[in-house]
Amino acid sequence: MSEGIYLHGYSEWEQERLLQQNDILSKYIYQKIDLTGKKRVLEVGCGVGAQMIYMLNKYPDLHITGLELEEKQLEKATENLMNSGIPKERYSLIQGNATQTGWETHQDFDTVVMIWVLEHIPDCEQVLRELKRILRSDTELWITEVYHQGFATYPAMPAILDFWQKMILFQSQSGGDANIGLRLGQLLHSTGIHTEWVTPFPMFFDARNPVARNEMFLYWKDLMYSSIDSMEQNGYGVKVQWNQVEIELNQLLEDTNSVFYYSFIQAKAII
Ligand SMILES: C[S@@+](CC[C@H](N)C(=O)[O-])C[C@H]1O[C@@H](n2cnc3c(N)ncnc32)[C@H](O)[C@@H]1O
Repeated sequence: MSEGIYLHGYSEWEQERLLQQNDILSKYIYQKIDLTGKKRVLEVGCGVGAQMIYMLNKYPDLHITGLELEEKQLEKATENLMNSGIPKERYSLIQGNATQTGWETHQDFDTVVMIWVLEHIPDCEQVLRELKRILRSDTELWITEVYHQGFATYPAMPAILDFWQKMILFQSQSGGDANIGLRLGQLLHSTGIHTEWVTPFPMFFDARNPVARNEMFLYWKDLMYSSIDSMEQNGYGVKVQWNQVEIELNQLLEDTNSVFYYSFIQAKAII
């Protein structure tokens, strides 16, 4: 990335994690997102193509353009899309910066999807202004964002919570915002984008649904681990803590009374 430090990095492990992440999270992310009848989608910050593959499979009439800053991600997205067997005519991948696309106005998209992207962009308001500049005023916009302060476990685990707080701090020191979901409505409002709704999406699992709960604990382990190298390189001293984090995660996995809670934030708007 040209702006700031990208918390998760671009290693092969991380690229694989992005694919697996979507296998787990898509059942929650797409509960409200409805692309029925849509034809041309722009996915901003498409990463390695995980969301594109999901949407193209779910909606057979869709064409998706993936816009991505990092060349390495685009290379992996090309490979993943080819391996998915989805015909090439149904998608295109473009390298570019969402804050300044250089595109002409009134692009022919009917929908924009943006998932886990604004949290990494220092001037995220500029992304919304840029979308407003280039798109038709009836373009639908679906944004899914993090709200990391909304993570909790029962029992509370000190090493996990400490690591998590450091991750939040590191992301803001890197120019991003791990709690951006909280500001999503305000950001849309201040850029003059008409918001249909902004809503928290709680993922709340306990003894009533131990399979989903433990799947999330395991996913959380990879999510936290994905930032460990960047944090270590930037003086956070988290590697010595990791062993304790793993011990606590295993305790949560083995405890039949444990609870997982996280809430991401989603918005539907019209440009
Ligand atoms: C956490 S990944 C999410 C990828 C994808 N949306 C998904 O859910 O799998 C965030 C992606 O946004 C990209 N990105 C960050 N800043 C960007 C910018 N200014 N313009 C375009 N892409 C950007 C990063 O390179 C990264 O691939």
